[in-house]
Amino acid sequence: MIEDFLSYNSVIDALTAHVALLNAQGEIVAVNEAWRTFSENNGSSLPAHGIGCNYIGMLDKLAHAPHNSGLGSHEDIRIAISVIAGITSVLDGQSAKFQIEYPCHAPWEQRWFLMTVTPLPGGTTVRAIVSHENITPLKAAETEVRAQGSRLALAFSSTVEAIALAIEKRDPYTAGHQRQVATLARKIGQIMQLNDDQLFGLHLGATVHDIGKISIPAEILNRPGALSSPEYSIIRCHPEIGHEILRGVDFPWPIANMVLQHHERLDGSGYPHGLKGDEICLEARIIGVADVFDAIISHRPYRPGHHMDEALRELKQGRGKLYDADVVDAGLSFFTQVSTAWHHAHGPEDENSHPLTHF
Ligand SMILES: [Fe+2]
Repeated sequence: MIEDFLSYNSVIDALTAHVALLNAQGEIVAVNEAWRTFSENNGSSLPAHGIGCNYIGMLDKLAHAPHNSGLGSHEDIRIAISVIAGITSVLDGQSAKFQIEYPCHAPWEQRWFLMTVTPLPGGTTVRAIVSHENITPLKAAETEVRAQGSRLALAFSSTVEAIALAIEKRDPYTAGHQRQVATLARKIGQIMQLNDDQLFGLHLGATVHDIGKISIPAEILNRPGALSSPEYSIIRCHPEIGHEILRGVDFPWPIANMVLQHHERLDGSGYPHGLKGDEICLEARIIGVADVFDAIISHRPYRPGHHMDEALRELKQGRGKLYDADVVDAGLSFFTQVSTAWHHAHGPEDENSHPLTHF
């Protein structure tokens, strides 16, 4: 019988986790060597290493201790309540397993444990197995990975900022436009419920989406009036030049593709490659919509910004044809908020401030 087998201490003594066996009432009927050693090394006051004590009863005392008793912190009490519910659920046959991670710091070390409670349905005396596994190295590795991730994100962010600064020194209009598009694109991404990592990459990509314009002569970029065909061809090269500048940087997001594809359109009428639908990455579809909106409403040296209604009309007309319908819908819900805030602050006649200054 399995319970006879478990009655041999050598079986549970072979485990490195701290193990206690509980009966149907939650009383500890046996503990292993690792449990005893931990108990002795940590000054436990439990008689017989806890054998004969009721596990649920001990936790219940902690959970209901008066606030000023010094028995446990708010966090200890929250964990105790959760463990009582977990053990009870396993003993009652309601759960196949209960697990919880908890801190158990010593004066000399920050420690974390994973508690696992599993049932032993066939047991006559032993009805549940409680094990506490020291997961401190795992938590330390997780913390280090998070710290490395933050350092890496900062390094990527600084790289992109440096690139954006390079264009700002030469072409303040494009620099401002990129910042505004980055703000808009991020808002659209949030409404579309992109995760934090995607939003971060989207913001970086939008911040440098027109970096290729660095190679276009300023007199062409800012020239009033219609452009000649060769001049227009030069301007249309900027996504590919931007891609060329960025493709060697090993970003964990498709930044170079966002830059390459931000003038592609859903129906294949965009440039440089005439990509269609899902061939255009989602981030580029978002940047494309934010770009059109900002380009229409922004002032240029040779013309004032158009009214926001004109930008909204363009996006509605192109929804599902030129621009991704979901992106336009998310954009419209945000642009409408912007429009309301702008009109509220300035009134319909004020044309002298960019609406995004309110966000
Ligand atoms: Fe562009």
